Amino acid sequence: MKDKIQVHAREVQNWAPRDLEELEALRIHFLSRKGVLQQLFAEFKDVDPADRKEMGRLLNELKELAQDRFNSLRDSLQTGTQSSGPAIDLTRPALQQPLGGRHPINLVRRQIIEVFSRLGFVVAEGPEIESDWYNFSALNFPPEHPARDMQDTFFVARDPDVLLRTHTSNVQIRVMQSQQPPVRILAPGRVFRNEAISARAHCIFHQVEGLYVDKGVSFADLKQVLLYFAKEMFGEETQIRLRPSYFPFTEPSAEMDISCNICKGAGCPICKYTGWVEILGCGMVDPQVLRNCHIDPEVYSGYAFGMGIERITLLKYRVRDLRLFFENDMRFLRQFHPVL
Ligand code: DAH
Repeated sequence: MKDKIQVHAREVQNWAPRDLEELEALRIHFLSRKGVLQQLFAEFKDVDPADRKEMGRLLNELKELAQDRFNSLRDSLQTGTQSSGPAIDLTRPALQQPLGGRHPINLVRRQIIEVFSRLGFVVAEGPEIESDWYNFSALNFPPEHPARDMQDTFFVARDPDVLLRTHTSNVQIRVMQSQQPPVRILAPGRVFRNEAISARAHCIFHQVEGLYVDKGVSFADLKQVLLYFAKEMFGEETQIRLRPSYFPFTEPSAEMDISCNICKGAGCPICKYTGWVEILGCGMVDPQVLRNCHIDPEVYSGYAFGMGIERITLLKYRVRDLRLFFENDMRFLRQFHPVL
């Protein structure tokens, strides 16, 4: 009987009539002469004499509860202060909305921009659907040059002149064409290459291009800026190494390695036991590229660099498979800091 009384008490607390008519139905069901309460009192006769005192008290409490609840519901329905639903406790804390987080590629893109903006670089953008001129020719890729094959290009609508940009270096040309030096830009963006998707390659990825053109810009300036970037990104103890390389749009060209931030130089699979990992390409802007943009190479010089955001993110967060960045699996994404 005790259980029964408790169940009914909970039922009374949950009463939520929408109007006086519904409230009246509850009253008849519960408080009237043939209602639930009277029935319980009728059963009281059979209660063990030892339990009578307690049961009597509980029954009276239930009766009082039902009467009070009925009165207050009637009052609020009559005055219209409560039109529907259970009583609302306005002091209760609201349910927390789960916070989203930034995508790791976005986190790192923002961080790269933040570091270079301290050095005076401003963000510039260019189109993802590009002409051959901006993606290749103006950047000194001669026609039929094998360097074009290195970047497996997606062409749009079978037109060899319209393509999805294979790098963000197209923005260099667009900016230099529209602006005389000094030019100091950072061009983050999405790029496309016709590559088989694997743990280490994807047909869509992200790059950041940097370009600085002014009077008297030297390779030493480039090296200093890149050293600063590497330390800010991977820690003060990070060292850099520049190896001679080739890009059609820079002369001389180099690739930059950083000391492996995972094994600290001891040797691990990530750095292939060399203690160094490559993170970007760079060099002095080729005089022909400046000429293509009507900038006089006798007066001005510049440097450029370009890096893949996925690669920086892989190293920074030790992600083993590039495909994770594109799958939007919440179990992966949730591991990155929520935005506060
Ligand atoms: N555009 C090159 C690529 O996609 C990266 C690059 C290398 C950009 C050297 C540069 C540079 O500005 O100087 O592989």
